[in-house]
Amino acid sequence: MIQWNKDKDNKANTESNKKYGLVANMLKTGKYADWEIINIFINLVVAGGETPALVCCKTLAAMIANPEVMKKAVKEVDDVIGDGDCEVRHLPDLEYLDCCIKEGLRRYAPATIVGRSVKQDV
Ligand code: HEM
Repeated sequence: MIQWNKDKDNKANTESNKKYGLVANMLKTGKYADWEIINIFINLVVAGGETPALVCCKTLAAMIANPEVMKKAVKEVDDVIGDGDCEVRHLPDLEYLDCCIKEGLRRYAPATIVGRSVKQDV
């Protein structure tokens, strides 16, 4: 991926990727060595892969076990989104679903350790 972004003759590298691509922009700053970019991406894949997947699975399982909750959430999604695609503008109106996700995060948090300690009063 890094080589792919660096290759000036790479015709598959779109203008959009050059402008918005994360690796492209990290390379552009000149601040990161290749090994740093690789490690940041490994961190993102490891920290960001299973965490949301686990919350989704466990929250959905809890909703399946509580059909009244599921029915209410499905009705809300139907009312707010209808037959089209879910878009960012729909999110503020999905209040009940938001509560379900927050409850899922509370009950089945996939990562519960905060590896920080406060050294002085803030
Ligand atoms: C429901 C989903 C997620 C939960 C519950 C969660 C939870 C956590 C927790 C508790 C920490 C430790 C924070 C600390 O010690 O200060 C953490 C760190 C981190 N998470 Fe997540 N995470 C989630 C999703 C993601 C996703 C989607 C990504 C990336 C795409 C991600 C990337 C990271 C990274 C890079 C760190 C380390 C941050 C640092 O060292 O400053 N996480 N996460």
